[in-house]
Amino acid sequence: MNKITHISGPVVHATIPQASINDIVHVGKEELLGEIIEIREDTAIIQVYEDTTGLRPGDPITNTHQGLQVHLGPGLLGTVYDGTQRPLSALQDIFLPKTNTQPSLSHEKKWFFEPNIPQGTEVREGMIIGTVQEHSFTHKILVPPGVQGILDEIHTGEFTITQQIGRVGRTPLYLAHTQLVRKPRGYVKRLANKKPLITGQRVLDFTFPIAKGGSAATPGPFGAGKTVIQQQIAKWSDADIIVYIGCGERGNEMTEVLEEFPHIKDPRTGEPLMNRTVLIANTSNMPVAAREASIYTGITIAEYFRDQGYAVALMADSTSRWAEAMREISGRLEELPGEEGYPAYLAKRLAEFYERSGTVETYSGMVGSISVIGAVSPAGGDFSEPVTQQTLRLTKAFWALDASLANKRHYPSVNWLMSYTQFNLEKWFEQEMGPEWNELRQKTLRLLQEEKELLDIVSLVGVDSLSREQQITLFTARLVREDFLQQNAYSDIDTYCPLQKQLLIIQAIWAYDALLRESTKTMDEIRTNKATQLIGELKNTPNEEFTTNPTEKSKHIRKKLEEGLRT
Ligand SMILES: Nc1ncnc2c1ncn2[C@@H]1O[C@H](COP(=O)(O)OP(=O)(O)O)[C@@H](O)[C@H]1O
Ligand SMILES: [Mg+2]
Repeated sequence: MNKITHISGPVVHATIPQASINDIVHVGKEELLGEIIEIREDTAIIQVYEDTTGLRPGDPITNTHQGLQVHLGPGLLGTVYDGTQRPLSALQDIFLPKTNTQPSLSHEKKWFFEPNIPQGTEVREGMIIGTVQEHSFTHKILVPPGVQGILDEIHTGEFTITQQIGRVGRTPLYLAHTQLVRKPRGYVKRLANKKPLITGQRVLDFTFPIAKGGSAATPGPFGAGKTVIQQQIAKWSDADIIVYIGCGERGNEMTEVLEEFPHIKDPRTGEPLMNRTVLIANTSNMPVAAREASIYTGITIAEYFRDQGYAVALMADSTSRWAEAMREISGRLEELPGEEGYPAYLAKRLAEFYERSGTVETYSGMVGSISVIGAVSPAGGDFSEPVTQQTLRLTKAFWALDASLANKRHYPSVNWLMSYTQFNLEKWFEQEMGPEWNELRQKTLRLLQEEKELLDIVSLVGVDSLSREQQITLFTARLVREDFLQQNAYSDIDTYCPLQKQLLIIQAIWAYDALLRESTKTMDEIRTNKATQLIGELKNTPNEEFTTNPTEKSKHIRKKLEEGLRT
């Protein structure tokens, strides 16, 4: 008989004769969800995904002999789940988590299924057999993992996810299937990441872009703007699907998302943003083991949409809380601790997570991608701690958020001297935006570096020691910081900046720089000049003015700058 022998918070010991690692078990009379994470002689050690208060030694356990799985199919989009994919029906579930027996996907809702391949075709895992329309999103129905053979039956019509739509040999097919979460879904091969994930955030797209299929980390202390930057990407990036994992952060950050997203319109489809979003909430007050699982649940859902040939962007806020969940469980298992008490396998787990990003050729012969953006919350903003350091090695874009910038209300507080991108996207930008994009980017990064050097001189010997040329350099750098890099997430216009507008603003700043170097105005006159004001107003000028006729707009700005300097 399977029985509990010992309980330590979310970790339960039990005698389970035929246990295997990663078996999902139902623990106690309330059948709490748990997973066997270790076996020591006769004892199975289980992490329990629900509150273990009330469990007692001697309580029964049943073993499902199956691993942790998610349900993948129509109905995922627009849903809010906990870390083990149980639907959270209302906001209050985040604050008062309770056992929820609802299925992950509705068993009642009917979907119109339209096959796209005929009966008799040979199919295998990951192939597309038809589609279901979910609002304006075309949900592709895939052959489940492990299934291969002749499509003996396939039907058009309305189905719930529990009604059979076809058959491969003796295997029935449904609109949904299950998938183990701890093992990556398969694909044909990895492809190079060639396109940027366009976020509409100037400091990201222009200065430190991330590729579609790439990964980025955004570390920063409390209040630096990690959550806002993640939410901005979730709202505005040009991914087809957003998976947002609220991992171990306070509940109110998640409620913001839950309250806001249904009201925000996707700029591309005009539909509520939620229609392309899956939210996973495992906030700080929810069980710590489910937080450990939430990352796997999220990335597996992301892989499912990737395998349909879509670009997915996954946000995890915050991977530090995920690491802390691992640390807590490891501590309860009395494992030998590594650096700062984190388990020795921390680096491996982080690597396995980021490695599930990428652009791939799918089994359906399409190209799909997952971009992963992980927030990191090092205590006190100390980037030398293990989670930040490990993450740095794994991600190719690094957006370092800086408390001192945030204190000056310079948002996003991405530190331009510490941040970097290793993605090679220059070719794409040159093709789509013209050669000037890359030239101005290089020039701007150099300018910011130069500014730092000049400011060091100023702090030693004062501003009067600088030449006029150098003072103009400082002035232009200030324009770059204030009128370009700073971007207000709460301004209706500035919250999203199309690439065309990004280019026109930075062009204007550099055009102005050139004009200033030829003018005879004093620095004081320059500061209060009309043209200076005009630069400052650009970001709050409606986006359409820049996108409908960029050449005209560019000429117009230049004319205004010249006029301004003449007065
Ligand atoms: N891009 C931005 N525009 C305007 N305000 C911002 C921006 N980014 C951050 N903030 C401000 O900083 C506050 C803290 O940001 P938040 O993302 O919650 O920090 P963190 O998640 O790092 O603790 C926000 O509530 C907001 O007032
Ligand atoms: Mg936050």
